Amino acid sequence: MNNELSRRKFLQTGALATGGLITSGSIQLEAHPAFQAIKKTAPGDRLRFGIIGIGMQGSGLLSGALSLPNVECAGAADLYDGRHTLAKEITGNPGLFTTRRYQDLLERKDIDCIIAAVPDHWHKKVVVDACNAGKDIYCEKPMSHSIADGFEMVEAAKRNNRIVQIGSQRTSSTLCEKARELYSSGAIGEVEHVELSLGRNDPTGAWQYPPPADLSPSTLDWDTWLGTAPKTPFNALHFARWRCWKEYGTGVGGDLMVHLISGMLYTLGWNEIPRSAQSLGGIFRWKDGRNMPDLHMVLFDFHGVPVYVRLGLGTESTELARFYGPKGYLDLQEFGLQLSPQPGIDLSPSYYAYGFPQAMRDDYFKKWKEENAPKAGKEPLFDQTSWRGHDYDDMVPHLHNFFEAVKSRIPVFQDAVFGNNAAIACHMANESYFRNKQVFWDEATKSLKV
Ligand SMILES: NC(=O)c1ccc[n+]([C@@H]2O[C@H](COP(=O)([O-])OP(=O)(O)OC[C@H]3O[C@@H](n4cnc5c(N)ncnc54)[C@H](O)[C@@H]3O)[C@@H](O)[C@H]2O)c1
Repeated sequence: MNNELSRRKFLQTGALATGGLITSGSIQLEAHPAFQAIKKTAPGDRLRFGIIGIGMQGSGLLSGALSLPNVECAGAADLYDGRHTLAKEITGNPGLFTTRRYQDLLERKDIDCIIAAVPDHWHKKVVVDACNAGKDIYCEKPMSHSIADGFEMVEAAKRNNRIVQIGSQRTSSTLCEKARELYSSGAIGEVEHVELSLGRNDPTGAWQYPPPADLSPSTLDWDTWLGTAPKTPFNALHFARWRCWKEYGTGVGGDLMVHLISGMLYTLGWNEIPRSAQSLGGIFRWKDGRNMPDLHMVLFDFHGVPVYVRLGLGTESTELARFYGPKGYLDLQEFGLQLSPQPGIDLSPSYYAYGFPQAMRDDYFKKWKEENAPKAGKEPLFDQTSWRGHDYDDMVPHLHNFFEAVKSRIPVFQDAVFGNNAAIACHMANESYFRNKQVFWDEATKSLKV
């Protein structure tokens, strides 16, 4: 399957323009650097990967990876046996090696790299163990479960010279790439503030997932699943809905905001930790025993720029990253991108002049027109331009990017340092929520100042 061709063809035909005064026609988006890079590898190179965690996300990653050329799944690890069956079904290989011990995959010399989609509280151990075992790893977002975890992971990647790619797939999206290109070419001028928002309004969106029917302490290694979390008796809801509890997950911050933050960092060409975060929120709608907020607002100081975030599980609203600058704004959405330029100048005489006595007002209008009014037939047009992609959620290109880096050793963009920066923004938002006060980043101690 040639994803590059199919996506580019779609995007050529899908480029469109909207609004009052419009630029129209087909727009050729350049192939994402991930696709450009893939051309450099020898066609015969074949990669064998192992996958750890074949749940909701891991199952998609597994089929996504298998849709790419020259990659092969050599084994799957999961603590729940139902997912061994699922991995065999997805690969179409009833003889696929499966295990409850992910270490079995790390010990195998015939496995080149790992894909990991385990709950957040397992990310650090899996990544550090993989790096120490000499394996490159694609680990799902948010990179870490705590600030300290993230720095250990960065260190393990560096020490072992491993490719670590974090799974916020936005950074491999063609739309995000186009947004980055527009921003760096000055389309909206220097960004002055950013708004990130996303809302859901259904039980599945609020993580009330149905546990697998046969889940029990005999089909699941519950004690190992708990990992660093406090020991509790077997709980099928904790297994399926782990995002609801801070002991396993990172709330709407780590689940949803990390995508928006990663996309924002990529678009703006930033790669850093926010200077401060101030949160407000609560459990307004889903009072099901969770301890993570279902409504979370955050105001960050990111790069000296205010970044406002609204995440809610109570009302559905479009996913949107809006970048405001003196020359207009840029909207990055799930399936589209829109540039709305603004001239930033008066297009008519100032209405303040209506407060002048008549003679003064007439003089002002006359002078203004002489100096500013366009010549007849030469009135300016102002564009509003849109691009449409078929999917903003680019898991396959992101996997493609990872596999290419494993072969070429060319570093990935969303490496452990980037993943750590984006994850720390989420931890700061959560810390501010739980402490009910603004938190600040202290670069000297690499920790929070509260
Ligand atoms: N990039 C995205 O858009 C996206 C979307 C959904 C989930 N995710 C991320 O993917 C990760 C997994 O989420 P999910 O919804 O698939 O969770 P899930 O609960 O559906 O699946 C996780 C699987 O990992 C297994 N597991 C847990 N600890 C393990 C261990 N130590 N060894 C082996 N297997 C282990 C569990 O048994 C389970 O089957 C999370 O980090 C989540 O944030 C990313």
